[in-house]
Amino acid sequence: MESAEDAGVYKLRKDLAIIQTLDFFTPIVDDPYTFGQVAAANSLSDVYAMGGKAICAMNIVCFPLKKMDISILREILKGGLDKMREAEVTLVGGHSVEDDELKYGLSVNGIIHPENVLTNKGARPGDKLILTKPLGTGIINTALKGDMAGENLVAKSIKCMSALNKKASELMEPFDVHACTDVTGFGFLGHAGEMVEGTDIGMVIYSSSVPFFQEIRELVEMGMVPGGLHRNKKFRMPMVEVDPTCPPWMVDILFDPQTSGGLLFSLSSPQAEKLLKNLHEEGIEDAAIVGEVVESPKGRILVR
Ligand code: CO
Ligand code: CO
Repeated sequence: MESAEDAGVYKLRKDLAIIQTLDFFTPIVDDPYTFGQVAAANSLSDVYAMGGKAICAMNIVCFPLKKMDISILREILKGGLDKMREAEVTLVGGHSVEDDELKYGLSVNGIIHPENVLTNKGARPGDKLILTKPLGTGIINTALKGDMAGENLVAKSIKCMSALNKKASELMEPFDVHACTDVTGFGFLGHAGEMVEGTDIGMVIYSSSVPFFQEIRELVEMGMVPGGLHRNKKFRMPMVEVDPTCPPWMVDILFDPQTSGGLLFSLSSPQAEKLLKNLHEEGIEDAAIVGEVVESPKGRILVR
């Protein structure tokens, strides 16, 4: 918990550990089935971020029975279940309570060899950083609430949020990945900051290589950004240095809180090139090398 790991790991045997994680939230899209899909993909992601294999899960539901039709809940659970099936994860139970606000998510169990656990610490100078999904889902969710996001953009964002990080995690396995996390509520620079904080390394981010939804630049310039973006920026900015060549709208995107964002990981430069090629070949087209790990300045992130 001290270094904000994605999930908890408990060693059962010399060769086997369980990974446990729990995540649930309020709807970020209007369609209940889609919400179920996104929430499940998001909950499963923390197991994949540690390099583990998700095996079983339980539903967590808060539902306003007096205000909402039960068929909405059925659709949400169906979305979640279909996503679990896709992930080859077994639903083994769950719990629901009546609440004023709808919330849904999963508690997930995964397995891993104790020696293969990936944490957000361990990146080494000379490593390259790979990000597997484009940024901007928080901005798009905000624009959606304000009726400012086009149908096409929303569809792309939903596809991105409901995509499992399973494939990317499996593709990492044969490589010597030094550190990994998933980009969620604290935004890209927030989670990159966790990889750097309290370590002997620094990072250089190539902002022009970071994948994002092109349409959101305009939204950011109109001020269509979530409150969490400002909080993320305020919290992390002290360890970040931005080169004047990186425009302010891009800095905002780098702090955008993501729902079910991509994996961010660190590995040696030649390995990164190979793994990137594999990711692209397997359909993870947005994956990109977005920066490098440096020896100095320690504990800082340079965005250029
Ligand atoms: Co995480
Ligand atoms: Co999480």
